[in-house]
Amino acid sequence: MNRLTLRRPDDWHLHLRDGAAMRSVLGFTAARFGRAVVMPNLKPPVTATAQALAYRRRIVEALPAGCGFEPLMTLYLTDNTPPDEVDRALESGAVCGIKYYPAGATTNSDSGVTSLERTFDVLARMEERGLVLQLHGEVTDPEVDVFDREKVFVDRHLARIVDRFPALRVVLEHVTTRAGVDFVRSQGPGVAATVTPQHLLLNRNALLVGGVRPHHYCLPVLKREADRLAVLEAATSGSPKFFLGTDSAPHARSDKESACGCAGVFSAHAGIELYAEAFEAAGALGRLEAFASHHGPDFYGLPRNAGSISLVADAWTAPPSYPFGDSEIVPFRGGEPVRWRLATGTA
Ligand code: NCD
Ligand code: ZN
Repeated sequence: MNRLTLRRPDDWHLHLRDGAAMRSVLGFTAARFGRAVVMPNLKPPVTATAQALAYRRRIVEALPAGCGFEPLMTLYLTDNTPPDEVDRALESGAVCGIKYYPAGATTNSDSGVTSLERTFDVLARMEERGLVLQLHGEVTDPEVDVFDREKVFVDRHLARIVDRFPALRVVLEHVTTRAGVDFVRSQGPGVAATVTPQHLLLNRNALLVGGVRPHHYCLPVLKREADRLAVLEAATSGSPKFFLGTDSAPHARSDKESACGCAGVFSAHAGIELYAEAFEAAGALGRLEAFASHHGPDFYGLPRNAGSISLVADAWTAPPSYPFGDSEIVPFRGGEPVRWRLATGTA
């Protein structure tokens, strides 16, 4: 197959940052996706609806005229989020979910949740009002090995959340393990997961063999091959519980290539193309459209996009870096061929 036309997809997990950095990366996402769920881990975090609306305005103002891209905003859950914030979020019509970062789990998560119990009132209101909970599903317990942190989160926390709030809609963001996939599969339709391109394409060897590869470092960290295969199988299975969320997370090159490098892989420049490659390798290109363009809006209760994009099997090579504010970012696969190319000029 040389050309693949899909209903316009959405990215259900994206980091856009703010200011000049945001303006540097936004166009990559807007060229491919109809909507994106914009993560709230700015400095300071987007904890209130009013902040989310102001952030949304900054994003929309940075879009080229006539661009139909729609940012779907999120709030950052803290120990002190008032349940009324759930009502304000829903009334705004612009907030699609609340993001739960365990405190200290990842980039800009210091204001995150210190214990699950502290969020019960908010989760109860979200369950009642029908607002989606988006989870960074990793424990921060220093005793737990970094490769086990997702599984332990599922066992200790996610199992309790779904048990206590059975009608709450929950997305286990960037699922990376067989344990995570199995848990999501074992639950009803209100529990789903997003999947990144790097967790479909790479295992932890890509991080650690032949030298440390800081541009392959993200959280949750890349896992072993058996986990990659489980995540790939889930994403390509046709199950509506799994959908596209790039977790594209740009950091300036100097913050990645450092003695203590930041977590995050920037993939927005090839945010649909990389998935096409993974699905093709799995013999499942025919299931890409449902994963990228149907399952996400169906889960969130939003209409599927109108319009389409096309990909052509015509390899291209991303540059080794892109401008990023007054700095630069190193894209995923930069300087190496990507098999599918976005055809421009499609509706
Ligand atoms: C994200 C970031 O940089 O904001 N980093 C990452 O490795 N995925 C945060 C996150 O989603 O964990
Ligand atoms: Zn993320």
